[in-house]
Amino acid sequence: MLIARTISEINSYRPRQQKYIIALVPTMGAIHQGHISLIERARKECDRVIVSIFVNPLQFSPTEDLAEYPRQLETDCELCEKLGVDLVFAPTPEVMGIAGDTSIQPLTTTVIPPVSMTSGLCGKYRPGHFQGVATIVTKLFNIIRPDRAYFGQKDAQQLAIIRRLVSDLNIPVKIVGCPIIRESSGLALSSRNQYLTAEEKEQGVNIYSSLKQAAIAFYQGEKLASKLTGIVKDNLTTVSEIETQYIELVDPKTLEPLENVESTGLLAVAVYLGNTRLIDNIILRQPIVAIDGPAGAGKSTVTRRVAEQLGLLYLDTGAMYRAVTWLVTNSNIDVNDEEKIADLVKGVKIDLIPSESSDLPVEVYVNGQEVTKPIRTPEVTANVSTIAAQSAVREELVTIQQSYGKKGGIIAEGRDIGTNVFPDAELKIFLTASPSERARRRLLDLQNQGYQNIDLGELEREIVERDAKDSTRAIDPLKKAHDAIEIMTDNLTIEAVINKIVQLYQRSFFI
Ligand code: PAJ
Repeated sequence: MLIARTISEINSYRPRQQKYIIALVPTMGAIHQGHISLIERARKECDRVIVSIFVNPLQFSPTEDLAEYPRQLETDCELCEKLGVDLVFAPTPEVMGIAGDTSIQPLTTTVIPPVSMTSGLCGKYRPGHFQGVATIVTKLFNIIRPDRAYFGQKDAQQLAIIRRLVSDLNIPVKIVGCPIIRESSGLALSSRNQYLTAEEKEQGVNIYSSLKQAAIAFYQGEKLASKLTGIVKDNLTTVSEIETQYIELVDPKTLEPLENVESTGLLAVAVYLGNTRLIDNIILRQPIVAIDGPAGAGKSTVTRRVAEQLGLLYLDTGAMYRAVTWLVTNSNIDVNDEEKIADLVKGVKIDLIPSESSDLPVEVYVNGQEVTKPIRTPEVTANVSTIAAQSAVREELVTIQQSYGKKGGIIAEGRDIGTNVFPDAELKIFLTASPSERARRRLLDLQNQGYQNIDLGELEREIVERDAKDSTRAIDPLKKAHDAIEIMTDNLTIEAVINKIVQLYQRSFFI
């Protein structure tokens, strides 16, 4: 792993990486699991990972904790090396062209985000903070020129402002937002947690539980901002040591205050525990349910029926991969010709429309042409795994899926829905069954479709082979999310599985 302290070191490194996808994870160091989650995601999605470690004086006001902010460059670098980071950029304030002392910042060009995004939430109490963040992040983007940059939802206002900055200034970088990492108690991880005593840490648990109480009320139908923020306030005041700075409900993208949550809302708080300022937030939206598991565990039937019962939109991702597979074979392109396939899927249009018919969950259209039935042929089935393993295909389809998921209220099944597509899904299920049971079910399925003379042993071998392929593929292997609930379906009827999931959903959101 390289450690660069100057811009010229970056300038000699960067051109050598021209053909790679470069990730930047900007941090102020004191690396913890929150940062690590960003680095790991970047490692998974990109060829080169650069972590910047810079305690940025521009974003601290003279009365804030710039001098005390934890600095541990050596341990941070060791950790980065273990995580497979390629380069740590750790400049001094002088290298960044900034005075180390916040009281004597010279007048330089400053990036000023829209006032409507900085006048509320933290911006109200930290004047100049987001200008300091926007300015340093712009400088980092220009120095590193990453293809992708990773930020945590923990700092939701920062993330929204950076998305807007990149869009307004046409900076050619893709911003990837990552879910909040918490201690098992629910306390969101932060470098500033180091300031907390054991007692304060315990009291801090109340911050997230207050937000969750409001989320439960939201799931039960409460949409009024004043009511939802009131619930957080009432819960926070039960711990006298917590001094609330703000509780606000805003649009997650524009940060404009909301009176009602129509589709999604960002409920955010800042509190003081002793001298330590802590922030946390939760997104309010209709829940997303993610169902993952090996092929043939009954995911699509179960998902479709659960969608019907709970009134969720069924996002049939399997059908999307089948649609692309059909498109490839129908265009007479070899299923292993990744380059041609990458071109073919760029900007592909896939529409899923709820179907009237009970045996096919959705009607599927690819580039406007209906392919609901043709995507179920054995030829497509035999090739879908190969197509789904290709990074260009996955990237294109994940983007389509995530845009379906923006407003929540959907259920999706696949093999990386809870780990990759919707890592912040409110309910994650891992549905599985033994290979012999899955072969038996597949046989019945095929016989029902009119296929004869099928060898059960051969089906089982195919399933074992496909499991191995799906679990070991380089890109997004079949993986159980750490927070998924596993359901083994060998001895369960479909009805029992459906009831179980419906109950889990109701218990999670409508206690
Ligand atoms: P810092 O507080 O070090 O955070 C670096 C990144 O880690 C930010 O994107 C932040 O949102 C993310 N992060 C922190 N705690 C997290 C958690 N518990 N779960 C998930 N992500 C978490 O944010 C900054 O530094 C600075 O403002 C910076 C962007 C580097 C500009 O100076």
